[in-house]
Amino acid sequence: MIRLSPFHNMISFFQGENMKVAVLISGRGSNLKAILDAEKTHLLGQAKVIIVVSNNSKAKGIEIAKSYGKKTISLEANNFKTKEAYEKELEGIIQNHGIDLIVLAGFMRILSPNFINKFKNKIINIHPSLLPSFPGLKAQKQALDFGARISGCTVHFVNEQIDAGPIILQEAVDIAEDDSEFSLSEKILKEEHRLLPLSIKMISEDKVKIEHNKVRIVK
Ligand code: GRF
Repeated sequence: MIRLSPFHNMISFFQGENMKVAVLISGRGSNLKAILDAEKTHLLGQAKVIIVVSNNSKAKGIEIAKSYGKKTISLEANNFKTKEAYEKELEGIIQNHGIDLIVLAGFMRILSPNFINKFKNKIINIHPSLLPSFPGLKAQKQALDFGARISGCTVHFVNEQIDAGPIILQEAVDIAEDDSEFSLSEKILKEEHRLLPLSIKMISEDKVKIEHNKVRIVK
């Protein structure tokens, strides 16, 4: 049976079995850990993490992935002559593992429009602000510097613009007068750890539709 995909205008290949997930990381890996904990406790729906790819071979997240028995692949940019060659390798890895969904969990490398279009509506990202406010780097500091009263986190599909694709889930947190970049980041991170696994679960259960560049959640 082929069923309609959660991805707009595409046919799903996970056919009621596992939705195969690749998690891309660069560092600490706390969001990766939240995803793996959710999988372990059956809170990730039909999704199963098949591979963890890091663009930094020293990322702490690699050890986390291994401790959960996950296959890890390090892809360091300086081992490739061009961005194109790097992405060709990444594309091969994704395809060889039959990946249905790519999750950017603190992946600090910008993917080219060419790569993104190859996996249209199959890549999601977590960003530590309420998009469209404060895209880009140091989103928590941006919110503090601006004097925002609230910030939060956003899980969204990745499109060709940075931190700009259709929004899946958001959660707000209050900014206190005495919040530092660290304390605000910690508050937001707590919500990230809930929202990212939940988004993956909802996609795996076919509850996330994209219509006219917006996400509609099926109740
Ligand atoms: C998170 O704050 C995420 O929102 C941002 O990068 C950070 C990654 O943290 N994109 P971790 O590696 O998941 O701990």
